[in-house]
This record gives sequence, structure tokens and C-alpha cells, in this order.
Amino acid sequence: MVLSSAQTELGDKTIRKRVFSGVQPSGSLHIGNYLGAIGRFALFQEGYDCFYSVVDLHAITVPQDPVELRKRTVATAALFVAAGLDPAKACIFVQSDNPSHSELAWVLQCVATFGELGRMTQFKDKARGKKSVTAGLFTYPVLMAADILLYDTDVVPVGEDQKQHVELTRDLAERFNKRFGVTFKVPEPLIPTQGGRIMSLTNPSRKMSKSDEDPDSRIEVLDPPEEIARKFKKAVTDSGREVVYDPEKKPAISNLMTIYSLFSGKSLEEVRDAYEGKGYGVFKSDLAEIVAEKLRPVREKYSQLMSSGEIEDILKKGAERAYEISSAKMREVKEKVGLCSRLRL
Ligand code: AMP
Ligand code: TRP
Repeated sequence: MVLSSAQTELGDKTIRKRVFSGVQPSGSLHIGNYLGAIGRFALFQEGYDCFYSVVDLHAITVPQDPVELRKRTVATAALFVAAGLDPAKACIFVQSDNPSHSELAWVLQCVATFGELGRMTQFKDKARGKKSVTAGLFTYPVLMAADILLYDTDVVPVGEDQKQHVELTRDLAERFNKRFGVTFKVPEPLIPTQGGRIMSLTNPSRKMSKSDEDPDSRIEVLDPPEEIARKFKKAVTDSGREVVYDPEKKPAISNLMTIYSLFSGKSLEEVRDAYEGKGYGVFKSDLAEIVAEKLRPVREKYSQLMSSGEIEDILKKGAERAYEISSAKMREVKEKVGLCSRLRL
């Protein structure tokens, strides 16, 4: 039998490989999230068994307004669907709806070491300069490992910034398996060769981020076309006027070319050739048009979903399916570790 890379053979049964990814409901999503993660989610839904979660437990590692958090959680799930996910093909759910995530996170916190968590660069970045840092922010990557390991995940599509967390997940899975017997599948990160790290429009040495205090540093997926045009027009460029890809010498224009290439489907060489001798102005206004046009259906589908209320039903069904799988894994974990389950949950 010829198997695609999305399948594995188990006896005479062919099973689809699992994909898991999560996105925090903190702030609105930008084109970095779109190109590095949510815009790619739908690519897997045909061949893989997909689980995509809005990870609200991760969001509360920093202070959140409860009313806003609840709204953003639903809005983020709506964006998953608006970006092309079909709830009939992929399981979409909210992390806190499924108690297995916190439960496994605790067990894994007793496997992870203080030293390895202290080496996580995202923790160091987020904690830098803060007067008070929660213990949850420190153990955040362990909760992420629990998310992934509960579902026997094969592949984790994420942006470059999450690579270290997936590597930690692999280490924890291997350590647990060695100590207690094989329980978890060891997952692989899947980082796009292009678009895994989209940079800020106002400072191309920093990644585009939800937490940047300057909103003009990012294009949000729901930005209207005029706003997209204004932000690209204002985006910093490098000296000279040539549209050429050179991340070392021309980091700003190279970032804009990457965005252009990914949204248009043209290669970097084609983009360079198309703008030879034309300067930055024409390039930026075409770029704005291409991005706005590509995001238009996402914006439209999002408003339709938010007004219909159908997301609630999608999330309820998603939570039920997720729990069905994760609770079986949790039972196995408890058994292996020597924890009792007197209630049949
Ligand atoms: P977060 O918003 O931190 O929950 O990230 C959601 C997803 O978007 C993760 O897979 C990140 O790796 C990805 N991501 C975040 N920022 C960027 C960026 N600037 N470029 C590419 N991917 C990103
Ligand atoms: N930590 C990820 C981020 O900040 C979000 C996340 C949580 C995640 N759990 C996950 C991503 C599991 C992939 C798989 O972007």
C-alpha cells in the first residue's frame, strides 16, 4: 500500500496522523499569526486528524479582563473558521472547556525541571523588567506540552518562536515514557520555511507581536483595507529604493517582500523582477491591495459567524470530542503514575 505522509499503517488499519496547534485569545490576531499559524491550519484538515484549540488557560498567565477574555476566546475561534477551518473536518475547542489539559499539566510539572523551564527564551522575554511574574508564566510551556501530548499528536504547526516549546514537549514525553513506560507520542514541530517569523512594520529587528505597544507595528487580520494601506505606507523601509531581498542589509523591505510573496503566491524573485526600478511607493501600495483582497473573505466570514452565534455550537461539539480522546489518555497516565481514579469520570 502507498501511504501519504499524513497516514501511518497500524496492522491492517490505516490511521490519519494527528495535528495539534493552539492560539491564545489575547488581543486580535495579526498577519504574523495568520502566515505562521492560523492561515495554515486549514491545509492539514483534508489529510490529517486535526485539533485546534483557543488556549485561554495560557492567556491568564498574565492579567486579563474577564469579560474581554471571554469575548476574545469566541472571536479567536470564529477567526479559525473564517480563515478556512471546517468544523466538520477539524476539532475546534476552547482549552479550559476540557479539564484534562490542567490535569496533565500538573503531572508534567512534576516531570519538568526548574532548570529547563528557566532556559525558555519566551519566559525570559516576557518576564524581563516585570516587578511580579506569575508561577503560571513560568510553567506555561508545560501546559503547552500537555495540550500536545494528550492527543498523541504527530505534527505541531507553529511559528518559529514556539520551536523551543515543542522541543521541551519532546523531552518531557521521552522522560515520562522512560520513567513510566511508553505513554506519549513524541511530536514534531512544523515551522514554515517562509513566514515562520514575520517582523514588525515599525521595527524590523523585532517580531510582529500582539503585545507591541505600537498598533502600527502590525496588520491585524480584521483591519479594513484603508487601515492596511495606511500601515504599509507608514512602514519603515531601508536606505535606497530597490525592492531586493537581503534580510541582513535590507531587513525592512525583505520582511515586506516575504509578506507580499506569501499573500500573492509569487516567489521572491518574481516580486523583485516585477518592481525593478519602480521604488518602494508603488510596491507598498500594491502590497496593501493584495493583503486587503486576500483578507476580505476572512473578514466577511468572521462577521457572519459572529452575528449568527453558530460558534457556540461548534465549540461545544469540539470540547466533547476533545474530552473523549484526552480523558482516555489521562486515565492511562494516572494508572502509570500510581494515581487513583475512584470516580468513573
Ligand atoms: P500566539 O499569538 O502567541 O498565541 O501565537 C499564535 C501562533 O502564531 C503561534 O504558532 C506563533 O508561533 C505564531 N506567530 C506569532 N507571531 C508570529 C510572527 N511574528 N510570525 C510568524 N508566526 C507568528
Ligand atoms: N504557546 C503558543 C503561543 O504562544 C500557543 C500554544 C499553546 C500552542 N498550546 C499549544 C501552540 C500547543 C501549539 C501547540 O503561540
